[in-house]
Amino acid sequence: MPDPLSESRLRALFESSVALTSELSVDALLQKLVETAAALTGARYAALGVIDESGSTLERFVTTGVGPEAREEIGELPHGRGILGVLIREARPLRLHDLTKDPRAVGFPPHHPPMKSFLGVPIMLRGVAFGNLYLTEKHSDEDFDEQDEEIVTLLASQAAVAVENARLYESATRWSRQLESLHEIIRSLVEETDLERLLTLVCARLRELIDARLALIALPERGGQDLRIAAVDGDSDTRDAVLGHKLLRAGSKSGRVLERGHSARVDSVIDDPEVDQDEARRLGIRTGLYVPLIVRGHPIGIVAVHDKLGAEARFSDEDLRLAEIFAARAAVAVDLSERVARDTVRRVIAAQEVERRRLARELHDETGQALTSILLGLKAIRAAETDAQAEQAEANLRELVVQALQDVRSLAVELRPSALDDFGLLAALERLAGTFAERTGIKATVAATLGDTRLPSETETVVYRLVQEALTNIVKHAAASEVGIVLTMRDGGVSAVVEDDGQGFAESDVRADALGLVGMRERLALLGGTLAIESRPGEGTALIAYVPLIEAPDGRAAAAPEGSATDTPSPGG
Ligand SMILES: Nc1ncnc2c1ncn2[C@@H]1O[C@H](COP(=O)(O)OP(=O)(O)OP(=O)(O)O)[C@@H](O)[C@H]1O
Ligand SMILES: [Mg+2]
Repeated sequence: MPDPLSESRLRALFESSVALTSELSVDALLQKLVETAAALTGARYAALGVIDESGSTLERFVTTGVGPEAREEIGELPHGRGILGVLIREARPLRLHDLTKDPRAVGFPPHHPPMKSFLGVPIMLRGVAFGNLYLTEKHSDEDFDEQDEEIVTLLASQAAVAVENARLYESATRWSRQLESLHEIIRSLVEETDLERLLTLVCARLRELIDARLALIALPERGGQDLRIAAVDGDSDTRDAVLGHKLLRAGSKSGRVLERGHSARVDSVIDDPEVDQDEARRLGIRTGLYVPLIVRGHPIGIVAVHDKLGAEARFSDEDLRLAEIFAARAAVAVDLSERVARDTVRRVIAAQEVERRRLARELHDETGQALTSILLGLKAIRAAETDAQAEQAEANLRELVVQALQDVRSLAVELRPSALDDFGLLAALERLAGTFAERTGIKATVAATLGDTRLPSETETVVYRLVQEALTNIVKHAAASEVGIVLTMRDGGVSAVVEDDGQGFAESDVRADALGLVGMRERLALLGGTLAIESRPGEGTALIAYVPLIEAPDGRAAAAPEGSATDTPSPGG
């Protein structure tokens, strides 16, 4: 019959269990547990092994009594063979006078401190062994006794509850972080219009949650054989090395995964024959998760995550599940942006149709009317009875012809000013401003510092149409007395500013069906350009357009290759 536990040990046990239940991180909890067990039993060394999912070996090993250097020297953690294996398999307390003499012992690795007396107890969670608590080298060469066994068993059962709580807490925290990140991404799906920024956010949040070194999204190039890395998150060196880089569709793991449309987990990149080994070496990657972006059953890109940080570089099932959830969001983003692009082209075409209809109406109403009047005038000459009557009829007719001629000319200029082709943008704008001033009485000046750069023809057209629509708006809405048009080269592109001193407007007041400003934005967007509007009621308006240019091989500036502008007058003019 063992002595009952002394009051002081019971108190120590109680205090430690209170401390254990208040600990919310599993790692910190386990560390506290081994320290308490050693203190309560007078053991020199204590350790705790956490059994992995397979139930046969140890995934974590927490110790006390062995310093960090000694731990380093011993090297690899125990695998759970020998005496530790007995404990894992049998899950019952075990006490030994001399650990090394037991027939089941497999011996210590080099540099391991000598250990003889031994006490091990299982930590059970709902009937399943979660881990084992081991104590060795009780002070003054004594053996561990029944009281030690009892107290460590009690401690282990309390620890089990605390571990379960801490695990639940950790997974709840993980869940709430995952939910928060997902929420942020869903919000950006609605708010963010720049696809690259959105995909970069997906990479950043995924990498953070999975705790990986690198996350990237690759999309197939339009009509090409390559995958282009469209977004990356990782340290800045890796990011620079990866972003915009191309992967061969045929010779890379990403390409294969895209083709098959199924996720893949690679635990060792060098052993995977599908991986492009040169690329893997260049980026120093060891492991990977590859998840396709699927839209309506079709893979349209892939998300890849590399190198889990921490002791274990391999990814877990949960990591894969998370990557799949994020990939689904990224797929929506890519799909949306492609649809918006298609939609933009559709709207530009629709705007052209509106414009053609307007021109047709004008041809019919004005030019058609004028020609009909001329026909009538010819009849009047023929019907004239006196010379004076004939002269009068001819004079009327002449006036009609002059008017019709003017109408046809101005229509032709609207369709495509020949000055643009013959003399370039500046001359065409000067002519436009001149006619505008004459017609409206609003003073208009053009200033340009373009140097010798002759702009690409689609850029000239877009700028011309923009100024044309801006002037129309000024007549219709501004009540201005003066307009300034300024062209300059800036940041490797051309900037066009149209400023008036009229009554200004607030963008929030613009009618939903107004086409002018929208049309300007869309034309500019096709060349990768932008439009800024600075206006406030009562303070005039400035439209600031910018079109980037790239240097073509022959030294002539070229428009950015985002698409091509169309050559029809802007809508609403
Ligand atoms: N220079 C300006 N001064 C004052 N208000 C302006 C100016 N330019 C545009 N606006 C305001 O912005 C609105 C939108 O202009 P937008 O060119 O898009 O459409 P709109 O001219 O009304 O119609 P349309 O589709 O025929 O062009 C105008 O209705 C007007 O209220
Ligand atoms: Mg307008």
